[in-house]
Amino acid sequence: MAARATATTEYPLRREVLLLLQVAMVVFVWTVVIGILNGTDIVDFSRKTVLSHVHAGTLGWITMCVFAASLWLFGATATRGQVRAARALVLAAIITLPAFALTFAITYAEGRAVMGSFAFASIVGFFAWVLWRLRSVEVTTVHLGFLAAVATSVAGGAIGVLLATKIATGRNVLPSGGEDAHPATMVVGFLIPVGMALAEWALGWPTLRKASRLGTAQMALPFIGGILLMLSLLLEIEPLAPIAALIEFAGVVIFVIRHFGAAKRVDWKTPTPARYAVAAGVAIVANILFINYLAGRHKGDFDNVPTEQLLALDHMMFIGVLTNAIFGLLLVVARRDGRGRIADQAVFFGMNIGLVGFVVSLLGDLTWLERASTPLMGASILTGLAVYTMRLASREATESFPVVVAEAATP
Ligand code: HEM
Repeated sequence: MAARATATTEYPLRREVLLLLQVAMVVFVWTVVIGILNGTDIVDFSRKTVLSHVHAGTLGWITMCVFAASLWLFGATATRGQVRAARALVLAAIITLPAFALTFAITYAEGRAVMGSFAFASIVGFFAWVLWRLRSVEVTTVHLGFLAAVATSVAGGAIGVLLATKIATGRNVLPSGGEDAHPATMVVGFLIPVGMALAEWALGWPTLRKASRLGTAQMALPFIGGILLMLSLLLEIEPLAPIAALIEFAGVVIFVIRHFGAAKRVDWKTPTPARYAVAAGVAIVANILFINYLAGRHKGDFDNVPTEQLLALDHMMFIGVLTNAIFGLLLVVARRDGRGRIADQAVFFGMNIGLVGFVVSLLGDLTWLERASTPLMGASILTGLAVYTMRLASREATESFPVVVAEAATP
């Protein structure tokens, strides 16, 4: 039952995948530039601009790339109707997600809530499309990760729209815990399963394994943990948060057990998708250990967690997990056939050494280290975005597209 991935010009949605990835990279520049100027204290930004930094990164970069990967993963045999629907969704996403992210820099009023509902509609649309495709694909552990993640982002997005409405109108459309429930649902419930899925995909490239029982548990546990964490914060049932964090932890333990062997064999000197995948895997483990420490230390009351520690947690996830994993996939799509090795090394090591410095500076309150590591991390990411943009524009990337096919399950 062996089937392997091949490259083809027939992939129905390859241009849409490449378009989403390209727009995501353009929008991410806004986040990175604000991050560098903020981290070096060159500019003291308003809260509005910082919120646009957050959402250009989380919606414009991460969510847009998750949409691109969903089309790639679920779309190989899409029908004409499904291709048309996907094209309409792509158009909606490349307009609404960046526009909503920028709205944060402009207003707290109704306009933000209205734009938020359009962005939310795009998330719901992609979730419905993935469900529509589900019966026609061989379900692998990676597919399950995307399903769990996109489903949770619908819940997180709904809370986000209600939060925006509450802030704009003062109307009590959301319990007081909603302010914490939104970021927690998104950063934990949405990003952990999709981070594990993207890392597994890049680590095993070009092969995907059909979902085994262990693989299913690996994705089901963070999904359940994410929903429990959302409920614990939304309904302020504090004792539930440490339990939810433990359930997430169990899913990550399975992830490590399933991939430790392959991760050990990765050559750290060579720029490969697998190297990015292992960096993302290490960041997932560090993140989940830190979440459990914070949940235990503060007895589930995240209001008591110092802002710097939450920022460290968020950036371990946004850069350590998701940006590493997405750069791993960009290395697959934007092939370079051996050219640009120095650039690939600079991007990988610069981004990750910068990230470690940035996280340590936040946890240790070391302003000098933050001013040194933020530009290193930021400049490395900007270099990566420039290199991948050039490669995506190359004929190779647009004319032959790597297709993903499932192989029989292993534990
Ligand atoms: C349709 C989707 C989304 C909507 C409607 C939305 C809406 C919001 C709103 C209204 C706030 C509060 C802003 C304020 O305090 O004025 C917020 C904060 C936040 N959101 Fe979102 N958001 C969305 C997607 C996301 C995603 C995908 C992530 C992460 C993966 C995310 C992470 C955060 C974080 C971390 C904060 C807290 C920022 C801070 O307080 O510094 N959001 N969001």
